[in-house]
This record gives sequence, structure tokens and C-alpha cells, in this order.
Amino acid sequence: MSGEAKEVAGVAADPSAPQTTSMFVLPMFRVAKIGGFDQNKDGLVQALMNRREFDKGVPASTAVSGAWQSKPDLHKWENLHINWLVSAIERNAREILAPQGIKKVETVEMWANINLRGGWNLAHDHGAHPLTGILHVQADEKSDSLLEIFNPLPVPHLYGLPSAVRLKASPGQFALWPGPLKHTVWPNLSDVPRISVGFNFVFGF
Ligand SMILES: [Fe+2]
Repeated sequence: MSGEAKEVAGVAADPSAPQTTSMFVLPMFRVAKIGGFDQNKDGLVQALMNRREFDKGVPASTAVSGAWQSKPDLHKWENLHINWLVSAIERNAREILAPQGIKKVETVEMWANINLRGGWNLAHDHGAHPLTGILHVQADEKSDSLLEIFNPLPVPHLYGLPSAVRLKASPGQFALWPGPLKHTVWPNLSDVPRISVGFNFVFGF
């Protein structure tokens, strides 16, 4: 944000106006729906639900009460729709981060989450991974199926800021945020399985 003085409709700019520069903006982004999602949604749901049938998942994960999480090798699965997903999220991430001079984005871990009714994920972070994210694949949009990312500022209310960002799970929605930020996934209150794909990225300038 800039406080640069502007000239409007013949009124001279105020030379004493403060010249400001915004600082400490966290790289957090949301795309309401990534392009090409609708054509791939059914194939993604089928591939991920099939995998759950024979993959026990990760036992020491954050998943609670009927939540299943795959091993973090989803980006290496051989499947047309998964291949599309990997290239689509990397392309979206590159376009989002380009204004900050970031040119290379690479997926290092990727996993599926399937939360049946009552399933949820404990508050956790992704350690030193510079960038993490989620793509929602399926959710009952009539129920409050929320991803909550906590504000790392200890007293955000003093600055009129929220204590957390809450994203309602919406198919095709893609979000990116710094890996060290704590986040949680609220219980699925619907009989529609909530399916999402999580990932950790590295990037380069
Ligand atoms: Fe997470």
C-alpha cells in the first residue's frame, strides 16, 4: 500500500503527505476455483476414493475420527487427473508468486485427505516448509466445512485484524500460505466425504 500523494481533478498534490511503504505482508493467497477443475473433478474423486480402499494412510498424522490421509507421494501417482492437478497447482502458484520475483515452484510433498462425517484435523503446522497449500476437491457446501489458519500475531485485535482466516471448503478452491502458520480443519458435519489435497512447495528466485 502506498501513501503517495495523487493529483486529482486540478487539485495540486499535497507535498507534505507521508510517503509510506507497506512491510511484513505474509504470502497468503486464495483462488476461488482453478481453471480446468470442473472437467477433472469426477476423475480426481474416483482416483482418491479408490486409493483409500487399499492405502492404510499415514498413522501418525493429524487426522482424527474417521479422517484418512494418504502417504505424501500423491504427486508421483500415475493417473491422468492427478497429473493434471500437479501441473495446474504449480502453474497457479507460479503465476500468483511471479510479482514477488519467484520463478521456480516445485511440489516436494503432496497427499490426499478424506474426512467422512465427524472427521477433522488437529491444529498443526508444516514446520520449515516455505509454502504449503490445499486444493478442495469435494465438500458439502451446505455445511460449515472450514479450514482455519491462525494469525501468527499474538494480539491481532489491537490492530483491528482477525485472529484467523476461515475458508469454507469449496470444490476447486486453491489456497497457499507459509508452512509455519498453524491451521486446523473443522469436523465434517455432512455425509458427503470431504476430499482435499494438501501439498508442500519449495520455490526459487
Ligand atoms: Fe496442514
